[in-house]
Parts: sequence; C-alpha cells; structure tokens
Amino acid sequence: MALMFGSQGLMGAQSPPETATIRFLQRPPQFAWVEQAIANLDEVLLDHSHCERKAAGVALNLMFRYPAHGPMLKALTAIAQEELEHFEQVNQILAARGVKLRALQPAPYGAGLKAEIRRQEPERLLDSLLVAALIEARSHERLGLLAEHCGDPSLGKFYRVLMASEARHYGAYWVLASQDFPREVVNQRLEALAVVESRLLETLHFAPRMHS
Ligand SMILES: [Fe+2]
Ligand SMILES: [Fe+2]
Repeated sequence: MALMFGSQGLMGAQSPPETATIRFLQRPPQFAWVEQAIANLDEVLLDHSHCERKAAGVALNLMFRYPAHGPMLKALTAIAQEELEHFEQVNQILAARGVKLRALQPAPYGAGLKAEIRRQEPERLLDSLLVAALIEARSHERLGLLAEHCGDPSLGKFYRVLMASEARHYGAYWVLASQDFPREVVNQRLEALAVVESRLLETLHFAPRMHS
C-alpha cells in the first residue's frame, strides 16, 4: 500500500512536498483492524487518549533532549500543545460515553518502532524524528478509517479534524528531519523504517488498539 502525502489532506506551511511520499511496502490488515476497532470503539477511544498523551510526550522528550535546537523547539512546542488539546478532547468524549480513564496494555507497535532508533547521534535524532513522523502518518490513516466507518456523525467529524492535524504533524517531523539531514538520507531511512512499521502491523493484535 502507498500512503500519499501530497497536497491532499495536508494543511499549513509545514506540509511536505511530493518527494515526502511514504511507501509502506507491506499492506497491514486494514479490514480486520476496522472490524475489530468498530466492535470495540470505547476501548479504541481509550487507547486513542493514551496515544495523544504519548504523542505530546514524544515532542516534550525531544525538547528536553535537544534544548539548544531553537527552530526545532518552536515546532515541537506547537505539536505538544496540539496533542494535549487532542488528549483533552478525547477524554471529554470518553467522559460523555461513561468510559473511565484506565491504563491499557499497549500493542507491540510503539516499542517495536522505538527499538529501531539508533543510539548514537546524529542518527538518534534522525530516527527519532522519522519514527515520530511514521506514527503520525499511521494515526492519520487510522483516524480516516474510523471517521468513515464509526457510524456516528459527530464522532466522525471529530476524527476528521484530528486526521488533518496528524497529517500536519507528519509533515512537521519530516520537515525537521530534512532541515538537519540531506534529503536523500532522510528518504532512505524513512523507507527503511516504513518497512518495519508495516511489518509491525502485519498481524492484528488481539486487543483493539489504534496502532495494531
Ligand atoms: Fe494528536
Ligand atoms: Fe499528532
């Protein structure tokens, strides 16, 4: 499957150019995932809440790790703020549905991608940005599927708004990587990480999660 991030679905000045197209070389089990997610929407919403909090944490962690990187800090501040807004919005929906916040066992996806981040700089920075970009791209795709199939117009509208944000975040992380590393290095590494990302989704996780 190919996830295309051209002019479509992306907003704002940080939209990546056509060259940022991501090609996921292996197709994850989308239909099985949609079926599982729609049948367990409350649990998926709860996992979504955790995802938004973790996304804010990713941006904040990078801010702590690279405190002297001025241009990056500005973009990360905006992402962290937006993710926390999403976190609050998802929590309001959970409250309205009578679902209490609780810990959830994560799917292996996040840890699997984190394991791909090389430990030495500057590779660590590049990989961290690209792993964050891929997670945002996949969130964009999954939110789109939920918007289309959830069967609830107001929830669908909410998913569509968030879907656009996550595409922008993908673009922002890609731009940050491209500012510090040559374009061909970024794209080559992105392709390699995208293969791993798709493999991590090949087998549907037993528990319904946003990224499983
Ligand atoms: Fe978000
Ligand atoms: Fe995001």
